[in-house]
Amino acid sequence: MASAHPPTPVLCGLGGWLPPRIVTNEELSRGLDTSDTWIRTRTGIGRRHVAEPGTATSDLAVEAARRALKSAGTDHADALILATTTPDRPCPATAPLIAAELGLGTVPALDVGAVCTGFLYALATGAGFLAAGLAGTVLVVGADTYSRILDPADRSTRALFGDGAGAVVLRAGTADEPGALGPLVLASDGTGADLIRVPSGGSRDPVRPGTAHLSDPYFRMEGKKVFRNAVERMAAASRQVAERRGWGVEGIDLLVAHQANVRILYAVADLLGLPRSRCHVHLDRVGNTAAASVPLALADAAAGGALRPGDRVVTCAFGGGLTWGAAALNWPGISPH
Ligand code: COA
Repeated sequence: MASAHPPTPVLCGLGGWLPPRIVTNEELSRGLDTSDTWIRTRTGIGRRHVAEPGTATSDLAVEAARRALKSAGTDHADALILATTTPDRPCPATAPLIAAELGLGTVPALDVGAVCTGFLYALATGAGFLAAGLAGTVLVVGADTYSRILDPADRSTRALFGDGAGAVVLRAGTADEPGALGPLVLASDGTGADLIRVPSGGSRDPVRPGTAHLSDPYFRMEGKKVFRNAVERMAAASRQVAERRGWGVEGIDLLVAHQANVRILYAVADLLGLPRSRCHVHLDRVGNTAAASVPLALADAAAGGALRPGDRVVTCAFGGGLTWGAAALNWPGISPH
């Protein structure tokens, strides 16, 4: 007889990919009214990776996904979910293209757009596929190339973002296994939709007939308002999942939060009453990689020895929408690629 409980998603593979070109704060400040000191002290970011012209989000995603599959010891997954807000094209979705590149056949594949929270929304979607019996393994990818949508003249966003991709493999398992994921919490507040946005190019402000121009195709953000929201929402969501998992905040071994600003990371830790040493920092080397941020930070923590099998991990994110969420995870004995 079938079990009354849906399967628990279990993380069994992890991989990341960063485009090789590195842009330092010094390089950025040559063409922009900013400085290494300002960026480091206000954000904690030292450098970021930027995709070469001609490289699209799917190219980064395929590299990360290959590494995640390798880490899981397989070359197949039954479904692919891509978190991104910089798809290769506005239409169609990018995920089917990635699935085809990976040779996954005709598996279901879709994009999830929740900006910097996208990876957590994609994890939840993957867990739903497993629970519904649509798949036994799911490849969940977070990939973004924000360099393509930043205003070259806007120092307040160009200093923050970098390109990259991260991926995990989830399989159907049980709650007592290493790698067991959950609970997850997800939320949104569309009254704050204007705080993080690309104003033009959608149905609200499409291409102007006869000109083929968009009035503002660039990413815009009200950083200060986002900052405060991000701290409060990520702290509350992290507390919720830690308590529901039965760990409590004090039981968290490592907090792997969306990497937007080191001041946000430490403010979240302080609000939770968690020592800052238990908050993983990766953004100094990559900046904010949007939907790729969480899996890349997990891969960095695991590769650098900050995560050991059995560790109690809470991951959380906040982004445009507004959207936010958190997930608890028992760290499995896997090697990231
Ligand atoms: N170099 C130099 N000066 C800069 C700058 C840069 N790269 N970016 C902004 N400034 C300037 C601003 O123009 C402003 O100048 P003004 O006072 O003359 O208007 C000044 O620095 C202070 O700006 P402020 O917004 O008060 O700084 P801040 O301490 O809030 O830091 C952010 C700005 C964007 C770094 C910060 O608010 C932040 O990280 N927010 C979260 C953003 C994020 O990553 N969100 C992603 C989704 S979670």
